[in-house]
Amino acid sequence: MCGIVAYVGPKDAAPILLEGLQRLEYRGYDSAGVVVSNKGLKVRKVKGRVADLAAAVPARFKGTLGIGHTRWATHGAPSDVNAHPHLSSDGRIAVVHNGIIENADELRAKLEADGVVFSSETDTEVLAHLIARTAGETDSLEEAVRAALKRVVGTYGIAVVDAGRPGEVVVARNGSPIVLGIGEKEMFAASDVAALVRYTRQVVHLEDGELAVLKADGFRTFAGDARPTAKEPLTVDWDAGHYDTGGYEHYLLKEISEQPDTVARTLRGRLDDRFHIAHLGGLNMDARETRSFRRVKIIGCGSAYYSGQIGAQLIEELARIPADAEPASEFRYRGPVVEPDTLYVAISQSGETYDTLAAVQELKRKGGRVLGIVNTVGSAIARECDGGLYLHAGPEVSVASTKAFTSTAVAFALLALHLGRVRDLSPAEGRRICQGLRALPGQIKEILALEPQIKELAHKYAGSPSMMFVGRVRGYPVAREGAQKLKEISYVHAEAYPASELKHGPLALIGPEMPTVAIVPDDELLDKNLTTLGEIRARGGRVLMIGHRAADPRLADDHVVVPKNETELDPILLTIPLQLFAYHAAVALGRDVDKPRNLAKSVTVE
Ligand code: AGP
Repeated sequence: MCGIVAYVGPKDAAPILLEGLQRLEYRGYDSAGVVVSNKGLKVRKVKGRVADLAAAVPARFKGTLGIGHTRWATHGAPSDVNAHPHLSSDGRIAVVHNGIIENADELRAKLEADGVVFSSETDTEVLAHLIARTAGETDSLEEAVRAALKRVVGTYGIAVVDAGRPGEVVVARNGSPIVLGIGEKEMFAASDVAALVRYTRQVVHLEDGELAVLKADGFRTFAGDARPTAKEPLTVDWDAGHYDTGGYEHYLLKEISEQPDTVARTLRGRLDDRFHIAHLGGLNMDARETRSFRRVKIIGCGSAYYSGQIGAQLIEELARIPADAEPASEFRYRGPVVEPDTLYVAISQSGETYDTLAAVQELKRKGGRVLGIVNTVGSAIARECDGGLYLHAGPEVSVASTKAFTSTAVAFALLALHLGRVRDLSPAEGRRICQGLRALPGQIKEILALEPQIKELAHKYAGSPSMMFVGRVRGYPVAREGAQKLKEISYVHAEAYPASELKHGPLALIGPEMPTVAIVPDDELLDKNLTTLGEIRARGGRVLMIGHRAADPRLADDHVVVPKNETELDPILLTIPLQLFAYHAAVALGRDVDKPRNLAKSVTVE
């Protein structure tokens, strides 16, 4: 997805902008560009990678203020011309933009009727022309930006420079993140803290509708109606080292391997050995309020949604509260009935996923109580929620979510334990779950040690045109996540079904050319799962079984045996071999593992 970087200060801007853009590469993009201001604007933009842009920037590209962008095409194909920044016809205003201007066609037609000549197909270019129209007449760039934004319908994070006002950058946000970074006599801005942490850890998140003016000596922020707003800087506890591959070949493998630590960090300080409950101060609810909910509804997108399905199961089992999960992208469009005695939980690694954010905003508008399970501190979803839990998993760079997935499931186990213990879950049961949670990091290490075996299996199955993933009840979200991981990074088609549903249709697909990955934990459904394996084998299907015991060779061709935890927590561990399987299949097929085609790390547009 698109990325923005801005700088104003005493230093040469171009290297800082290029470095920042490199840090945003993980989000996915197709072209990149920068502009610096020095007696006029100097622009370079290219279709391709940030490295191509850096090669195109000449040594004389000097200026102590500038903005940069990585573009993910929405209006117009990826090309040099459509890459940002976009300039006004007189070359005075330059704009970079994340998001979508919905009334761009209408504004473009009006501007063209007035004689404005467009040079790109993008929606963003209308902003450059609109701002230029008033920039000469207003006292400040921010007024010109504000006037232009009043005419715009849509979502945006923007950064704007004016050749006529060489000491300032104006940024604004509506539905697409903008974070300010505060340095020593220098200011930064970006769409993601990843671009800032090398320079500063003091950040300020803009709210929707806010605009900021950045100068070397500081910043001012304003609400949409031009009223000044007061902002408290936040200290980010992620540093530049978190964004390195740390010696691993890919971020994905690094993030899979970090899970013993990331799960331990999600648990840290949250388990109470005296009362066998989870301490979750961030929920901002006392015990009486916590007891008052009669239902839990969980929303998230993609893998976050699948981790929410694990969460719903945990809450129903441990707290005996009806709970279910739904894709946030669907939820907000179906006119949901928002009930006062339902606890809503929104999940997001990035905290910026537009569909999830919009669903939270819809819930809040209707008076719903929303908790967030979020990884990115201070992100839009975290700020919008009434309370919640941070994952503390550290930044997740690879597009495919792994450590955030397991940490979210662990966070749900904590929430379920908490909800259960203020209701009917006994201290003995609470102790059992606490012990299970404490065992997770060590057991994850044991699973990671199986990597050579899983790699071999991935190589064996990677050539299949299609794979089926099946699981029952607790195993079903695990199967869904396994299929999601495989398809998004290896591009091998994968389907996930409840094992119980196989004979109601998809069994017709099974044959030697479509192997099945079966999630078969040692739980009360073991016999039923084994029966399903028999049905698959009877149709000539190959089976890779992921479970707690070696497979009967009559029922499965291969198996991966993972350590057993408490039945309710087993899904967390069963997910990890599937991450490694997808990773090694993708590597074997020569895929761009960390930046799979067509995908972006955080989906900040609809
Ligand atoms: C996960 O592998 C995916 N890339 C994707 O489904 C992701 O989980 C989803 O877009 C939600 O992202 P979020 O957690 O940042 O909101």
